[in-house]
Amino acid sequence: MNITIIGTGFVGAVSAAVYSSLGHQVIGLDVDQMKIESLKKGTVPFFEPNLEDLLIEQQQAGRLSFSANYSEAISNADLVIVAVGTPSLPSGAVDLKYVKLSCAQLAPYLKEDAIVAIKSTVPPGVFSELQPIIEKETKVKFHLAALPEFLKEGTAVDDTLHPDRVVIGSTEPSVIKKLSKLHQPFDAPLVIVTPESAQMIKYTSNAYLATRITFINQIADLCKHTNANIEDVIEGIGYDKRIGHHYWYPGLGYGGSCFPKDVDELAAYAKKIGEKDNLVITISQLNHQRIPKLMREFETLVENWKDKTVAILGLAFKPHTNDTREAPAGKVIPILLESGATVKAYDPKAKWSPTDANSNYQQLNLIASTIQDADMIMVLVEWPEFLEYEFPKVSKKTIFIDSRNRFNPEKITRLGYTYQGIGH
Ligand SMILES: NC(=O)c1ccc[n+]([C@@H]2O[C@H](COP(=O)([O-])OP(=O)(O)OC[C@H]3O[C@@H](n4cnc5c(N)ncnc54)[C@H](O)[C@@H]3O)[C@@H](O)[C@H]2O)c1
Repeated sequence: MNITIIGTGFVGAVSAAVYSSLGHQVIGLDVDQMKIESLKKGTVPFFEPNLEDLLIEQQQAGRLSFSANYSEAISNADLVIVAVGTPSLPSGAVDLKYVKLSCAQLAPYLKEDAIVAIKSTVPPGVFSELQPIIEKETKVKFHLAALPEFLKEGTAVDDTLHPDRVVIGSTEPSVIKKLSKLHQPFDAPLVIVTPESAQMIKYTSNAYLATRITFINQIADLCKHTNANIEDVIEGIGYDKRIGHHYWYPGLGYGGSCFPKDVDELAAYAKKIGEKDNLVITISQLNHQRIPKLMREFETLVENWKDKTVAILGLAFKPHTNDTREAPAGKVIPILLESGATVKAYDPKAKWSPTDANSNYQQLNLIASTIQDADMIMVLVEWPEFLEYEFPKVSKKTIFIDSRNRFNPEKITRLGYTYQGIGH
């Protein structure tokens, strides 16, 4: 099959390399010329474990190429996969401008009977807007389908090669047959549903996981007023087979490139269709309030932030990625700087700096120099490098914020720190 993937970001680049590894002829297409030049040289312009090796292997095998030219990339494609970004508007609603633009751009070059599969996360019902955009620019018969993506950054290649399920949104037998055949090698359940159900499955997955995070944070907030410890509570509830031990992460709330935007988009969608008391609206509000609320509590531990030095460990939104989109650091650090604190930060992969040049902010290259003389150390991301680090003994009062509940409180306390986890 000739496959063209529009958008070579996290999803598009990984999908291109993986579909190519199944033996298909794949072109990755992007409007970002620099990204395309970098990918052509076998360099992935972001950090994603195992992607670069697979990409180089597939390019050398002659199955994978990259282009910034729509005419060249679309004309021979049996399947065009749209994987461009779908950010949120300030209202929280999805901004479809990149999806709509790519549909308008691909349409003139479509070959007869091509499938246009939308992998970008979009709300149910959006095909009624996309269909006329493509129809306006082409005379050929084409087929729109939904093909939502569930990969996780940091394990994206493995997730795409071994998905838990593949969701195909189409009601056309010929499309279902071709997309089913394409995904058969993954040996995963195929969920074949209407495009609207496929789109809702994607939003529901992320909204549910975000709800678990928000729910356990709510319980953590109750625990800290008593002698209850949220980690003990999680252990206790997890043995109930209906609940399980997996996916409980008390902390600073959910972040990253998907959960916040997808929950906000679903909340905006709920409001738009008149479901104004929907739970997802509350989940979104609670998550927006989470970091400001905890920062007010943490401030009391140092009396106030002014003139305090705070060491931030972790700038990415989670370990094993350099993606800083909606990372906790991006909310925590501005609060500290606005309140007069000095911030030193370190991350093994990610780079971050405030929008305004601020002389009170410094990103350093070593944990040791980052935490030196700090009044507070805040571990925001559970990078293995932090968990394995031998923190030095301290003699002056130093608060240790373990926002992931991953350190041994007794050990940290023995070193002289005042330990503060989440929910205990
Ligand atoms: N990142 C994730 O973990 C993840 C997981 C599942 C689903 N998704 C969804 O997949 C979609 C893509 O996410 P991403 O993280 O890969 O985004 P991204 O921002 O990393 O990449 C998007 C790419 O699209 C390109 N682009 C924009 N407009 C274009 C156009 N008109 N023509 C060609 N290229 C264009 C951009 O230059 C960019 O390289 C989003 O809808 C997202 O919600 C993301």
